[in-house]
Amino acid sequence: MNGSEPTSMHVADAPAGAPSWAALDARHVWHPYTQMLTAPAPIDVARAGGAYLYRSDGSAILDAISSWWVTLHGHAHPAIVAAIARQAAQLDQVIFAGFMHEPAARLAAQLAAITPGDLDRVFFSDDGSTSVEVALKICIGYWANRGEPRTRFLALEGAYHGDTFGAMSVSERSAFTRGVTPLLFDVERLPFPVPGTDGSAMLDAARAALAGGAIAGVIVEPLLLGAAGMRMWDAGLLRSLAALCSSHGVPFIADEVLTGFGRTGRMFACEHADIVPDVLCLSKGLTGGHLPLGATLCRPYLYDAFLDRDRSRMLFHGHSFTANPISCAAALASLDLFESEPVGRRIAAIGALHAERLADLEAGGSVCNVRRCGTVAAFDLPADSRGYLSDAARGIAARALDHGFLLRPLGEVLYILPPYSTPPDALHELYDFLLRELRG
Ligand SMILES: Cc1ncc(COP(=O)(O)O)c(C=O)c1O
Repeated sequence: MNGSEPTSMHVADAPAGAPSWAALDARHVWHPYTQMLTAPAPIDVARAGGAYLYRSDGSAILDAISSWWVTLHGHAHPAIVAAIARQAAQLDQVIFAGFMHEPAARLAAQLAAITPGDLDRVFFSDDGSTSVEVALKICIGYWANRGEPRTRFLALEGAYHGDTFGAMSVSERSAFTRGVTPLLFDVERLPFPVPGTDGSAMLDAARAALAGGAIAGVIVEPLLLGAAGMRMWDAGLLRSLAALCSSHGVPFIADEVLTGFGRTGRMFACEHADIVPDVLCLSKGLTGGHLPLGATLCRPYLYDAFLDRDRSRMLFHGHSFTANPISCAAALASLDLFESEPVGRRIAAIGALHAERLADLEAGGSVCNVRRCGTVAAFDLPADSRGYLSDAARGIAARALDHGFLLRPLGEVLYILPPYSTPPDALHELYDFLLRELRG
């Protein structure tokens, strides 16, 4: 076949009225989590600002999912954009093994300062998945360097920690991992503590597994399992689980890739439980959502386990763009905004608005499991047996888009996870739309 011929195409090749480059996308781009044969043509986005995405024809879409949970203060925030431009002109990129630079040093110090307890050491990577890979390797290396090799992890039922192989391994086996399951390493699963139960099944399972003396680490998404369908669990149980790990000397990993930087109403979800995890994974909102960056923080005892005159005991990990200076500068600018803008007030206001309007939805009676965690609101449509691949909520999301709202259901779960600068009126309009839809 001629190299320029496409081997396959979208059913929905660039539709009439699409921008000129849409044909190039249809011909050459492979989109994530997309069945390229049947998916409708992707939505073109020409620019973004605040809580809105703007299409090539100028129409606005309210980004009610923070563009896959990353956009924190709003798109193209002028302070973050300026920091990116300044840093790009000064130092764009440098190898991070054997070299250092000011944005990474300052960011590491700030992260150490704002995270709970003595999470003092920061390992930078590229995204949420790599921050999890690093966390797993830190735990495995810690045990290996102690001379008590352990490689087994405990993870929650329904967990999602990313799409690289280690991250997939600690994630639930699901439609997401089908096809590669035989290649993933086994983990022990803790029953998800369904709200309304006392969670003792999870704690009993953790106690039994930890007593076996073979667990290298326990990984959880604190309070909020995002990809599992915005499933929420209790801070008291999180505290008990962390305490169990601590009493067995097993590192406790908090994956706050989604929950970090205010999403749950506190800067970090672990603060609700008043715990200090041994390892903390951050990404998504770390740069305000403007650029990719991952960070894995750990407590000194884990870092110290890698210090040795024998080089073979170091942490064997790194990426080409580890601690990219432009991403670090964006993250520093994003953290500054927590001081210079009323971010805390905005977070509280979004939470209050969700609470009020979720009550309206619940009163409407056609949704179930209405729930909220800080700035994240979610509810289920009546159950459908096909899980993530369910069509139940997709019709609503398609009609939402026609009305200028971006929603992306997880199976039969609809959720709203907006940037903090989202105008309250815009959120009310979205809830009004949902009320109309759900009344039928
Ligand atoms: C809790 C959690 N961990 C890890 C990841 C993976 O992050 P990324 O997509 O940046 O690799 C995600 C992504 O949604 C996540 O929600």
